Amino acid sequence: MKPFQLPGNFLFGTATASLQIEGGDRNNNWYRFCEQGKTKDGTHCIVAADHWNRYKEDIALMKELNQQVYRMSIEWSRIEPRQGEYNEEALVHYRKILKHLLDNDIQPLVTLHHFSNPIWFEDVGGWANKNSPQIFHDFAKKVVYSLGDLVSDWITINEPNVYAEGTYSAGNYPPNKPNFLHFFSCAKHMAKAHILTYKSIHKIREERGFSGQTMVGVANHLRIFDREEGDLLAKIPIKLVDYIFHDIFMEAMIYGKFKFPIGFGTYPLGKDTYCDFMGINYYTRDIIKFSFNPFRLFSKLTVKENTPTNDLGWELYPEGLYRICKKAWDDYGFPIFITENGTCDAKDDFRGQYIYDHLHVVKRLIDDGVDVQRYYHWSLIDNFEWDEGLTPRFGLIEVDYETQERTIRESAKFYGDIAKESGVTKELIEKYSFLQAD
Ligand code: FCB
Repeated sequence: MKPFQLPGNFLFGTATASLQIEGGDRNNNWYRFCEQGKTKDGTHCIVAADHWNRYKEDIALMKELNQQVYRMSIEWSRIEPRQGEYNEEALVHYRKILKHLLDNDIQPLVTLHHFSNPIWFEDVGGWANKNSPQIFHDFAKKVVYSLGDLVSDWITINEPNVYAEGTYSAGNYPPNKPNFLHFFSCAKHMAKAHILTYKSIHKIREERGFSGQTMVGVANHLRIFDREEGDLLAKIPIKLVDYIFHDIFMEAMIYGKFKFPIGFGTYPLGKDTYCDFMGINYYTRDIIKFSFNPFRLFSKLTVKENTPTNDLGWELYPEGLYRICKKAWDDYGFPIFITENGTCDAKDDFRGQYIYDHLHVVKRLIDDGVDVQRYYHWSLIDNFEWDEGLTPRFGLIEVDYETQERTIRESAKFYGDIAKESGVTKELIEKYSFLQAD
């Protein structure tokens, strides 16, 4: 275990999403999903970590952990509970949260769509509806007019590929109606929504003279797809899956190029660059095996044999972060913000080591000339993990859901110390016994 330093201007933070932590909102599609008893563990999102009421306590915890940046999201169904009807009180509440962050010298990065939709939006066809880009864009403009003076850094949409996969391919996300064609409509519509919103955020902030350099991007979920040695046939599904899961989304969202089957290499909203930074969410890799099932893209996803995994069975593979960021840098060349990276570890057995390993990769990337500027750990606090419910524990901070008591995990203290020192010092290695010896 070796000490290492990151540049002094490198920023450390954490990430969350509104639906996963706030609680209290009954107008969104995940509320309905939970009411229908559909989470795997039978738990509900209605209280979650009660962050809506406890944001001051949570920001104090961020401060205690020396955080400089924070990624959060705005809950669409709170702002627009019925189509075209905006809830000013909810906007005032978000202003309070943002101001409180700024008063504590924590710079917010705000996501406008993070997996959850208003129920009325889902009932008019959600992201498969051809009007969805405009419908979302209206909401986004309202938010930027109301909060754009406090926020310069924006993410339009979180993980459009995972959202489309969960909603329309696997069908484990609401409304649980998988439809392969809708997968592609969703990809097309989310890309259009992103482009419209990208332009408006810049336009509104500029027209109104809001201060700070406007930075807009997407949080891209990028994954490694590998094969077992000798499985040559697997090269076919790997190419296919990579194209559908990565290329189609990235090209459309970054350059406005709609590749087949969401277009024919055409630019329906104009050829330009709609990206100021590359947001990367990285968790794990999949091993792909060849399958004769054309509906699953000839692929069967597995986990590499005999490797360490987290509580959800995801392989712990830090090298993947190197490969993903290096490729994104070589292909696109935008500054990189790691907008999510973390692990599910209820006992906090390996999270500290995970943080060390992934930040060490960041150090190597920077040494190799890749412009990685920020790291947002997923997540600040335990939260509602979508269809998995409340069982998985991704938080640096543990939540007792009975009492809402927060406890700082040991790995969080380590991360807080890293943020303070801009790296891992010899003293920190001695202090934290959970770090493995070389
Ligand atoms: C990502 C999601 C995030 C969280 C983590 C574990 O795919 O963006 O909300 O669920 O996975």
